[in-house]
Amino acid sequence: MKRKTRPKARPRMRARAIARANIALSKYWGKVDTTYNLPAVPSLSLTLDGLVTDTTVEFVEGLAEDRLELDGRAASPKETKRVTTMLDRVRASAGVPFKALVTSVNKFPTASGLASSASGFAALAAASTAALGLDYPEAKLSNLARWSSASAGRSIFGGFAELPAGKPGQKTLSAKPVADADHWDVRIVVAVTAQGPKDVGSTEGMERSRSTSPFYDAWVERAPGIHATVKRGVKKRDLDAVGPAMEQSTFAFHSCGLTAIPPIVYFQPATLAALATVRRLRDAGIPVYATMDAGPHVKALCLAADAPKVKRALEKTEGVLRTIVAKPGPGVEVRA
Ligand code: DP6
Repeated sequence: MKRKTRPKARPRMRARAIARANIALSKYWGKVDTTYNLPAVPSLSLTLDGLVTDTTVEFVEGLAEDRLELDGRAASPKETKRVTTMLDRVRASAGVPFKALVTSVNKFPTASGLASSASGFAALAAASTAALGLDYPEAKLSNLARWSSASAGRSIFGGFAELPAGKPGQKTLSAKPVADADHWDVRIVVAVTAQGPKDVGSTEGMERSRSTSPFYDAWVERAPGIHATVKRGVKKRDLDAVGPAMEQSTFAFHSCGLTAIPPIVYFQPATLAALATVRRLRDAGIPVYATMDAGPHVKALCLAADAPKVKRALEKTEGVLRTIVAKPGPGVEVRA
């Protein structure tokens, strides 16, 4: 009897990964190189549990172009282009020409105003390389994610991670782990102060700061010292060392935005009210400190035991829409 030869089943070039958002305790703001997306200052962040992006990538032979579905809708050409840029790098490494279907869902608390490029590009880096069988170690994955969005390089790692400043001409730069998620039982209490997308994205905001703010050079000069204080404080689990440096980092980078032309003002009335609440709690003896990113929300850093009190006070603050409490979380994970 003649045996039929079956065509060899082609392995599916598909993988899924989840990554979490991170909050910088010492901030990245400004680039030394836009081609390689190299930060001008070092930063240190905390990866947050619960603020998850879940991304599936499938490379499909014969597909005419990359297709991105974001939170259940077709992504804009601008969003898709940023994804294609990363996928082109992954395709070049694997020697695979096929375009991809990408589905990405931000499993953030509803309308938190927090969906971030950090978790998105960290998940995309892990899923796309895994789909093509590229077994990237964390540092290489971090470099790939960082190239698309520098803060994403930090979300590859769980707990506390740092991203050094880049140097002009350097081509690769990865974040590094500083301490695991269980190193320090702190919480981030997010006070959501506005709905909807932010006015000026971070990429544009930092470029405008660099090219027009008279404070930018001072920021770049001082940021490494602030970062070193934050890092030392994190290692020693010393909130009263980390907190003031984190606040200075936040207000220093916002000062660059405020003094840019035209100015970038992320503060809303509820932002100022939430910042005042954090100060008031501190005056009452609770060690809690505030940070902000390129948006109006306030993120309070405190010890786990104080989080319920901080949450209640922020919830009662005029203009605060809701609060979210997040603990340190793990790094990127490739899922079956
Ligand atoms: C204020 O990483 O979003 O959140 O590299 O241009 O994508 P690009 O910028 P991005 O900037 C984050 C800025 C920040 C501070 C921080 O996370 O360190």
